[in-house]
Amino acid sequence: MVNKEDVYKDVVTYISELTEGNNNPSGVLCNVAAALHDALPYYFWVGFYIVKDGTLQLGPFQGPVACFRIKKGRGVCGTSWAEAKTLIVPDVEQFPGHIACSSLSRSEIVVPIIRNGEVIAVTDVDSKELNSFDNTDQKYLEQVAEILANTNLL
Ligand code: SME
Repeated sequence: MVNKEDVYKDVVTYISELTEGNNNPSGVLCNVAAALHDALPYYFWVGFYIVKDGTLQLGPFQGPVACFRIKKGRGVCGTSWAEAKTLIVPDVEQFPGHIACSSLSRSEIVVPIIRNGEVIAVTDVDSKELNSFDNTDQKYLEQVAEILANTNLL
């Protein structure tokens, strides 16, 4: 695979351009998910869970059918929300309370999208391989989260 740092830089540039002045939230989030999914071969499922009515609700994604709602503190997504921090899970079977939307998912990263100190959504990425995510994924997915937090799309 080509250097993933370079791949992420291109995707982040694309995402900043896409979000500028765009007022089509679901369209933009669909294309953000699609751009990430197409660029990085180990992305099996990528999408957004958005905080709405006190719970995480499924937003735009790429990949297999997923869980609709996730409570605060539940699974990797709900824990990332509760703790307002990025979680890298090298082996989902070792994460207590992991929610298996697909039995094929083996590792995962969840990045909160934070505005004014409050988590408004999370980006969830699952891989079919163990140990797929590292600090580089975290760095660029946190940049994507910051871009999205600074728009009126969420
Ligand atoms: N694995 C997640 C649930 C969401 S799906 O995998 C798409 C979790 O435990 O939060």
